[in-house]
Amino acid sequence: MRLPGSGPPDPGRTGQPQAPKPKAAGRDMTGNRETIAIASDHAGFELKEALKGTLEELGYSPLDLGAQGPASVDYPDFAGKLASALAEDKAKRGVLVCGTGIGISIAANRHRHIRAGVVHDATTARLTRLHNNANVLCLGARIVGLDVAKDCLRVFLETDFEGGRHQNRVAKLG
Ligand code: RB5
Repeated sequence: MRLPGSGPPDPGRTGQPQAPKPKAAGRDMTGNRETIAIASDHAGFELKEALKGTLEELGYSPLDLGAQGPASVDYPDFAGKLASALAEDKAKRGVLVCGTGIGISIAANRHRHIRAGVVHDATTARLTRLHNNANVLCLGARIVGLDVAKDCLRVFLETDFEGGRHQNRVAKLG
């Protein structure tokens, strides 16, 4: 018999499923640095470059898929490169940056395995993980400043999908 105040039941003893051990920030299940794919068009180039540094600081390994400079390019091409990288399991999650975050998110969401959310602050970054299980973070370099973008990135990477009532809804996305 359990005495009052003797703490929560030990899941191992009650036969309840054990929660997975929390993994260190930036590390995958094998303890290696998790690779995060990142791409942008010309409008997002500068912010993409800055966010690569943020990924390193947070303990992740950025996989830069371009653009490689500020010369004008077409955002669907870079959304496509990132979608391919995720399909090929080069990374499980990604970051896309264009001027508004909108065009590159529309392009990314045409790929069935992508759930890309445009976010503007830490709250939307958290909710697109909790509720949408987004695997791609989209940012608008002409909309959010560097500090807000960094916050969005950190929160996006550190927040797990809530599941529950959202599971069915996400499944219906295809
Ligand atoms: C490029 O000028 C701009 O249109 C693009 O970066 C993006 O904002 C589109 O949605």
